[in-house]
Amino acid sequence: MSLVVSGATVVATPRGRAALAGELQRAVELLPGAVVRCEGTAIVFVGDRHEHDRRFQKPDEVLDAAGGTVIPGFVDPHTHLPFAGTREDEFDRRLAGETYSQIAASGSGIVATVQATRKASFDELLGLTLERLDRQLLNGTTTTEAKSGYGLELETELKQLRVLREAARRHPVEIVPTAMPAHEVPPEWRHDPDGYVELVVGQIHPAIAAQKLAGGVDVFCERGVFSPHQTRRLLADARRYGWRIHLHADELFDLGGAKLAADLGAASASHLLHTNDEGIQALARRGVVGVVLPGVSFFLRERYAPVRLLIHAEVPVALATDCNPGSSHTESMPAIIALACLGAGFTTEEALVAATLNAAAALGRADRIGTLEPGKQADLVVLNAPSPKHLAYHFGVNLVRHVVKAGKLVVRDGALVQR
Ligand code: NIG
Ligand code: FE
Repeated sequence: MSLVVSGATVVATPRGRAALAGELQRAVELLPGAVVRCEGTAIVFVGDRHEHDRRFQKPDEVLDAAGGTVIPGFVDPHTHLPFAGTREDEFDRRLAGETYSQIAASGSGIVATVQATRKASFDELLGLTLERLDRQLLNGTTTTEAKSGYGLELETELKQLRVLREAARRHPVEIVPTAMPAHEVPPEWRHDPDGYVELVVGQIHPAIAAQKLAGGVDVFCERGVFSPHQTRRLLADARRYGWRIHLHADELFDLGGAKLAADLGAASASHLLHTNDEGIQALARRGVVGVVLPGVSFFLRERYAPVRLLIHAEVPVALATDCNPGSSHTESMPAIIALACLGAGFTTEEALVAATLNAAAALGRADRIGTLEPGKQADLVVLNAPSPKHLAYHFGVNLVRHVVKAGKLVVRDGALVQR
């Protein structure tokens, strides 16, 4: 099966198979009038239309970009997708002035979602997750990371990860599952957080590994959640299973989380709102991808991560939604790109690289996805706009017209293609 995308004003893509940092973070190649040819699941040609017509036969299918922009499919490298229940009551409390930490300390917050997720049946949780995947796809995301962490006990952590495995079978969006039993100290272990850490190490990690339900692990290293010492214990254990390491670092306070992520050889460190200079230098030295989540800053009305300092220090920076019901309730990468530019200080080019190639690198997949180049998987988005700058510039509307995932048209004219 061959598919050619033609008629674009421009094809815009970063290049390469590794994250881009510093000056290169803004290296987006613009190919006016170019075509993209997919064969099977892969891209085989990106370039001049006449050259294409000389070298290749007529394709089975042509997709008309109609003067739009073709970009790589978005990669969302940090989400908490499989959750039940929502927290709009808490949202109102925050609008009235309470902080995220005050709400968490009052027994609401993450724990409220844990209760709802424990209660939900497998099928309910699967249905909710599939709906979120639909919204991601309609907004141009073709690969998403997704974490457990609203179970905080064996059974529900496994249920969340099995839901992700089933959702991956049913849905075109590619899912990269991450185990996060250390997302919060569960209420029943509040008197003994170290006891819970030992339960994760002794019972939950081994069960997840035995069933091959995750390829990575994440820990919320934060004051009042898991200390740097506990985080080290959890992640050193995770290494035994060959999992990729991720960290929620320096979100609310500076606990040296970024430095810890670098010391542990993490693939990515997320949030980084309060990261200090030493942490930034350590991330750069080890090539850890800094995942910036401007949706959280916006939603919690907090400061933004020090993006200019990160990029200047040559930390490769990615963007993600952090899709979750408490601190960033959105599936939309275009919304995140707009906030990244208007709030966090990204240029439009830096944001596009952050949402594609660098996001793929945060998940260890930059060799397969994140750019439009021969040999990469054919994951692409056609925007109803003449330039990729419109992603931030024309904010608050969905510019995604078509989406191709692994060579197949999965969104046409802004609607899901029936599966
Ligand atoms: O990434 N920081 C911890 N976890 C999420 C929030 C989860 C929630 O509030 O439900 C985050 O911000
Ligand atoms: Fe998160």
